[in-house]
Amino acid sequence: MSTKTHWENAWKSADPGAKSWFQDEAVRSLEMIEDAAIAHDEAIIDVGGGASVLVDALLQRGFANLSVLDISQAALTCAQQRLDDRGLGDQGAAVRWLCADATDWQPAHPFRLWHDRAVFHFLTDAEDRAHYLAIAEKAIVPGGQLIMATFAEDGPQKCSGLPVQRYNAAMLAAAMGAGFHLVEEDREEHLTPGGIVQKFQYCRFVRL
Ligand SMILES: C[S@@+](CC[C@H](N)C(=O)[O-])C[C@H]1O[C@@H](n2cnc3c(N)ncnc32)[C@H](O)[C@@H]1O
Repeated sequence: MSTKTHWENAWKSADPGAKSWFQDEAVRSLEMIEDAAIAHDEAIIDVGGGASVLVDALLQRGFANLSVLDISQAALTCAQQRLDDRGLGDQGAAVRWLCADATDWQPAHPFRLWHDRAVFHFLTDAEDRAHYLAIAEKAIVPGGQLIMATFAEDGPQKCSGLPVQRYNAAMLAAAMGAGFHLVEEDREEHLTPGGIVQKFQYCRFVRL
């Protein structure tokens, strides 16, 4: 089954709030975005954003230049519907909703901040990681930032039934390569809707 088919099926098959990665609020991501000190009009992208509520929180904080990319159209539609339901439909309409594979797309403009929670860790193939990072390196302006959250070294071995690559901060810094400098790292114990603790590694990098 292709990656796209897997994720379209995953998003069509159950309530978004029941997904293991679901968060009521993207607390750690928002803290790191605050630490990144991005101006409200600078371009931010949530790569593999799915139906995450991060976009709602960024809109509510006044960020106005937002893109959400996901391989699943069903996920993006779900996020857009939620924004409508919350009375944020007008702001949601101004978000760029990009249905694309993070390893194979062409950004239309540069970004000041790139956020990825629980997407890069699915790239268990070195070639896919290289493609993803080549796009990120080109798309993030020098001095721009990249926040990446993956399953930690002692986190789960699978997510959504797919194998993942787990990282600690040093491993993630090595994976990012010479184009990125690690400036902040933290771990999080995410409690899934099913009551299971999943250990995440968060890292913030500056694009050199
Ligand atoms: C575990 S979910 C995380 C969703 C969101 N980042 C969050 O924290 O709630 C992974 C997301 O990445 C998307 N995804 C998986 N592989 C992808 C790829 N190659 N390109 C773009 N999106 C991808 C999936 O559709 C899904 O929405």
